[in-house]
This record gives sequence, C-alpha cells and structure tokens, in this order.
Amino acid sequence: MKDSIITALDIGSANIRCLMVKYKSREHMEILGLSECPSVGIEKGIVRDIQAVSTCVAKALGEVETVSGAKVGDIFANITGEHIKTHVGDGRISIPTTSPNEPGEIDQAHVDQVINDAKNSIKIQKGFERSQILHGIPQGYVIDGQDDISNPVRMNGFHLITKVYTVFADVTPLRNLSKSIELAGYEIAPENFVLNHIAIGDAVLSEDERRLGTILIDIGGGTCDISLLHRGVLEKILVVPMAGSAITEDLAIGLKTTIANAEFIKNQYGIALASSVDPEVEIEVEGISGRESIRKTQQLVSHIIQHRVEEMLSLCYDRLKNYYTPELVTAGIVLTGGTANLQRIGEVVENAFNMRVKIATPELAKLNGMVSRLGDPAYATVVGLIYHAANLDREFKTPVSRVAKLSKNKITDKIKQIYKDFTS
Ligand SMILES: Nc1ncnc2c1ncn2[C@@H]1O[C@H](COP(=O)(O)OP(=O)(O)OP(=O)(O)O)[C@@H](O)[C@H]1O
Ligand SMILES: [Mg+2]
Repeated sequence: MKDSIITALDIGSANIRCLMVKYKSREHMEILGLSECPSVGIEKGIVRDIQAVSTCVAKALGEVETVSGAKVGDIFANITGEHIKTHVGDGRISIPTTSPNEPGEIDQAHVDQVINDAKNSIKIQKGFERSQILHGIPQGYVIDGQDDISNPVRMNGFHLITKVYTVFADVTPLRNLSKSIELAGYEIAPENFVLNHIAIGDAVLSEDERRLGTILIDIGGGTCDISLLHRGVLEKILVVPMAGSAITEDLAIGLKTTIANAEFIKNQYGIALASSVDPEVEIEVEGISGRESIRKTQQLVSHIIQHRVEEMLSLCYDRLKNYYTPELVTAGIVLTGGTANLQRIGEVVENAFNMRVKIATPELAKLNGMVSRLGDPAYATVVGLIYHAANLDREFKTPVSRVAKLSKNKITDKIKQIYKDFTS
C-alpha cells in the first residue's frame, strides 16, 4: 500500500476540485497536485448535462496530472442530492464458539458480517430496489443483551447485534456521475463514491465535536448538506436543495444585472448581516448587455443576501428540528462550503439556530506540500475524500489503468448511445 496514489474528485454544483496525494500512511500523505475549475452541467448534485460535466472532469483531472507529473490514482468522488435515502435496521449474528457454554471471541470479520446483515435486510424492502448502498454506519453494538458497546473487537459473546444507519443513493444519478468520469477518459470503482457529508466530517470534525454533538452544515453552490453527529456517530443526514447559487440569482434579479456580475458583487461586497452595513456606502452595478451602470447601496445588496440566507436556514431548521434537542448538540454548529466564506454568515446562522457557530477549514496536519490553498471551507470535501480513502485500510490501484482517452467524436457517440439506452 506504501506510496500508492489517491485522487479525490469533488464534483460540486459550482466547482470541480481535484486533489492528488501520495499515500504513505493514514497520518502522512504528500500532496502531488491540486486543480479547480468552475463546474458546468451539474445542479443541486444531479448531472443535467453529461457532456458538460465530463468536459469539466477531464479538465480537472488532466490539470492535476500535468501539475503533478503523475497519472491519476484510485479516484474517490463525492455524491449528494435529494435522492439520498437513509434507513435504520438491525443486524444480528451468532459468534462461533468452541464449546456450548463458552462465548466466542469477536473479530473484525464478525463486525463486518453483522453490519452487512443489517444492510442486506433493508435492500430487500420496498422502495429501495433502485438504490445502491453507499455506507452502513453502525450506531453501537449489543453483545448478549449488554448495550452501548462502541467497539466489540476482541470481546467475547454468543450473539452480536448492531443498529446500522444505511445510506443509499438512487442508481440513476450515481450511474450518470460514473459515466461523466468514464466519458472524461477515467474510471471509478462503484464503492469509491462517498457521501459528501461523510467526507466533510472526516476533514473538519474533532473527536470532541463528534462525541459532544454537532450539526455540520456544508453550504456549497447547489445544496446544504446537513449532518447530525452525537456520541461519536453520524446519526442523521439531510440534503436541502438550496445554497449559494440561489443567493446569486436573487442578486441578479434584485440588482438587474448578470449572474456573473451578481456573483462578483456577492463575493466582493456581500455581507449576510444587513444591520451591520453602513447605509451610505454605494456600489456600482453593471447593466445587462451594455445597459448603463447604476448605483445601489451595499445595504440593499446585504438585505437581498440576508433574506435568502434566512430562507435557506429556515428550510434546514425545519428539516432538522425533529431529530435533535439543543442538549444533544453541545458543540454547536460547524459550517463549511464556499458559502461559509460569506461575510458575517456565522452570526445569521447563530441567530437562526440559537447555537454557537464555527466556520471550519479542513484539518491539514496529515498533508505535506502546498497546503496553503486548502485552508478554505470550500476545500473540506476534497480533503475529506482523501482522509476517508486513507482510513479504508485497503490497497489503492497503482499505477491506475487509464481508459484510453476518448476523442470528442467518440464522446458524442457514447452520449448518443447512453441517451438511446435511457429512452429505449
Ligand atoms: N467570499 C464569498 N462570499 C460569498 N459566497 C461565496 C464566497 N466564495 C464562494 N462563495 C460561494 O460558494 C459557492 C460555491 O461553494 P462550493 O465550492 O463549496 O460549492 P460546490 O461544492 O461546487 O457546490 P455543492 O456542494 O452545492 O455541490 C458559490 O455559490 C459561491 O458563490
Ligand atoms: Mg460541495
């Protein structure tokens, strides 16, 4: 496993990011290359234009190969969207014993087996036929009636039970993401798709935050990905299909300007807390297609932003409120994603949830090399994908078999074929 290459591919609704590292150990990886490009053809986590997405993926992966001088290694990519489903189910197995009254020793294989038992029991239920399991997250173990066991390995018992929180993705969006990578000339193993929430948690959360209870919200361009963690485990995940691009669209409408200019104004002058803005300050707003520029107050910009941020947070709160009480979330809220860079968003979130808020950047101690660019809440996913892969304790494919790069015509032919497959 030493010195193999891991490639993280964050396919976001606003940006595609790629980070390539040389794996030395779980705690030590060397950065080989990083790339980022605007994403086209993906909205709220769903592929809407496969050709556009594959072109962006090819650009991001091609750039990281050029920068690093190495071939892309095992690709790990994120997935999110409203199609993500979850289910809680029990798994139970008997532990083999040498004599009828002597409990057997539990090893890692038994733990994997009991988790699989829980996952498989759900798969056959109605409504999950066209879903694929992404993760099975054990919520604790019970050995012969004794509960609250966090790690049963090396313990003895007759029966092992676990409650597993299983995360599913619909097969159609999953296949289309896979195909975007394939059409770009690369390949990804089906088990290398990681739920966005899990990758982000791996990048930013401390053990204390996981144990004491945290709400983690990643506010990207298209979705708010919400995770609720308590007693060290991920207890609930939710996806709200509204984020930074909705703020930009509101600004474009409110200020009568283009999306590109609204994005510039948001990032340059946007402040989420309108009451903190000097009402005298004005901003020059470019008109659409050569129309004259007009001046608007920064406070108007801020009001438009705050209004949308509050609507987004109220959707998040409504979805989440039945799953927690404030005592279960002692550490408060952790914010990541590009929109966490919006000035004074922390205070607006604090007011909406009445909880303390931390804007988090990825933990970078395990990475060597050009880490300075990664110190941004928007890089949480791509760094987390690397950590998630590194923790899997398995061989990474090196060197990676790269699918022969498809010519533009071949891509078009392939897309026509996919379209035919879908419509026939
Ligand atoms: N300084 C800033 N102020 C306000 N918004 C910002 C700032 N920087 C980035 N953003 C916003 O962050 C969003 C992009 O965030 P990010 O790169 O995390 O999204 P993504 O991962 O592509 O999307 P998603 O996770 O929803 O699929 C954009 O809407 C962008 O306008
Ligand atoms: Mg994202």
